[in-house]
Amino acid sequence: MTQDPLDRGVRRAYDTVAADYAAHLPDTRAEAPLDLAMLDAFVEAVSAGAERPRVLDAGCGTGRIGRYLAARGCAVEGVDLSPAMAVEARHARPDLPVVVGSLAALPYAAARFDGVLLWYSIIHAPPALHPALFAEAARVLRPGGHLLVGFQHGAGTRDVSAAYRAFGHEVVLERHLVTADEVGAGLAAAGLGEVSRMVRRPRSGERDDQAAVLARRTAS
Ligand SMILES: C[S@@+](CC[C@H](N)C(=O)[O-])C[C@H]1O[C@@H](n2cnc3c(N)ncnc32)[C@H](O)[C@@H]1O
Repeated sequence: MTQDPLDRGVRRAYDTVAADYAAHLPDTRAEAPLDLAMLDAFVEAVSAGAERPRVLDAGCGTGRIGRYLAARGCAVEGVDLSPAMAVEARHARPDLPVVVGSLAALPYAAARFDGVLLWYSIIHAPPALHPALFAEAARVLRPGGHLLVGFQHGAGTRDVSAAYRAFGHEVVLERHLVTADEVGAGLAAAGLGEVSRMVRRPRSGERDDQAAVLARRTAS
């Protein structure tokens, strides 16, 4: 397990809120139709040429999105920094493998997956670190495989401690906003060509624009 101080803070925060996160956000009900459309486009992309595509839910949390993908035919594995979030994911679907690990050093062999999902899991890493996280995701993706990134769109940093305190816990946590152009550039530098992007305005209860970028690992 990583000793990175930033990761330690994120892990501590999610370990603290894990049970309440699972209870309050059990499925994809918080996702807008456009978010689900991007997840569905990802499923379609990874399913081309693979009957049961192998997909990594990277930063899977409680596994709610992995379960959405599994219900659509993907063989989903999960990895998360927070042992308590991983426990929740395993509790909900004991048949879906979940390990504890970092996006910065994924515990998988190269080219193992047809698809990698980074659904709001890069948001706590400063944008300067994103290219390294995309390169690590690209490493475990087979040539021609697809990556989908979901994130809050914009610039700057938000202190989200209060939102997580709403669960009744004391946590210190911030998230970083980036633009789809910045994400697209980081993906390109990692050998991931952009396929499509979605940027939408905030819905009720959301503070920022939301975005998702779908990319494909170049064949070489
Ligand atoms: C906002 S939650 C999203 C969880 C899940 N993807 C979902 O949509 O419900 C962020 C998750 O990313 C995980 N995470 C954040 N940074 C990570 C890192 N560097 N390596 C692995 N997991 C990380 C956290 O532990 C947390 O479970």
